[in-house]
Amino acid sequence: MVTEYVRMSEDEIDQEAIRRAGKILREGGLVAFPTETVYGLGGDALQPESSRRIYAAKGRPSDNPLIVHICRLSDLPAIVDEIPPQAQALAERFWPGPLTMIFHRSSLVPTETTGGLDTVAVRFPSNRIAMALIDAAGGYVAAPSANRSGRPSPTLARHCREDLDGRVEMIIDGGQVGIGLESTIIDLTGDEPTILRPGFITRPMLEQVLGEVQVDSTIFTADSHQAPKAPGMKYRHYAPRGELVICEGNRDDVISYINREAAARGLLGHRTGVICTDETRGAYRADVVRSTGSREDELAAARELFRILRDMDSEGVEFIYSESFEEGALGQAVMNRLMKAAGHRVADVSGPRT
Ligand code: TXA
Ligand code: MG
Repeated sequence: MVTEYVRMSEDEIDQEAIRRAGKILREGGLVAFPTETVYGLGGDALQPESSRRIYAAKGRPSDNPLIVHICRLSDLPAIVDEIPPQAQALAERFWPGPLTMIFHRSSLVPTETTGGLDTVAVRFPSNRIAMALIDAAGGYVAAPSANRSGRPSPTLARHCREDLDGRVEMIIDGGQVGIGLESTIIDLTGDEPTILRPGFITRPMLEQVLGEVQVDSTIFTADSHQAPKAPGMKYRHYAPRGELVICEGNRDDVISYINREAAARGLLGHRTGVICTDETRGAYRADVVRSTGSREDELAAARELFRILRDMDSEGVEFIYSESFEEGALGQAVMNRLMKAAGHRVADVSGPRT
């Protein structure tokens, strides 16, 4: 298959290309497109065969359910069996935007799309290219992140090209995404609202609307015996090819630890990389040093993380050392992705060394 590339911006939507993309989706084809979080790999959510094709293109296990994207609140009732008042309140506050809610599904949604579950994840993105595409496709677009399974989610169209060229009919280039981490997922089907994946919409923001909100305990553990409630969270994710270690401790200890480790690897002929911030980048000695931006910029690490992980791959880096990014509103979401990328390898480097 030859993949067609089109480019547009939210301010200047190419209506003709959107019509063609919509037709591709309605005929069962696949289109990668920008959202405000990460690029999505879209197929018609109501056609079982489209969902099968998405799994095949991603190389993704088919028990990992897809998110159904809508572009109007009035399209929600058809795909869910009821809309609880809590969901109504969250939709009013956060949609369109980077929040995914889990509902009991209606029979309109094929089990291929929901990975066999009787629940369905729904998101109403705010990116205008995404909205135009969903509308042109008939209203319901299933879209996982547009990466091959296991790789970092795409934040640029060229990441989609790296992973999906020749596997999808079209890739829409809408520039770099704004947020850079996938949507927050909240499950409203249990006794208590529970966050299954942290993101730009944080727990305090959700609690302002709902009162107390739980967090799925598997979000930060490496315990493989406990199954996460979002099936996709159990898979190895975001992983660069090199071995990644997160280094925690005070700033000077982290810098000297990383420089020492990188020097030792370098002597053995390995390529080394560092993920840091503007405040520290000048202090590191490694083959590839990448800053996520200033620590003052709360959104920077989220926006740049996946791109930097991919850059480490294209630079052939074998050992990657990362600073920790716990602070700030998005700290939880960033650390959740970084911990997965690192396979939970953390070096605590603070305190006296003997
Ligand atoms: O920001 C996003 O959400 C992006 C963009 C493209 O919209 N999409 C995305 O999709 O991140 P994906 O497939 O990469 O991640 C979806 C996550 C998976 O962890 C999956 O297991 C979980 O959502 N999920 C989907 N349906 C679910 C359900 N019914 N119950 C529990 N978890 C579900
Ligand atoms: Mg994904």
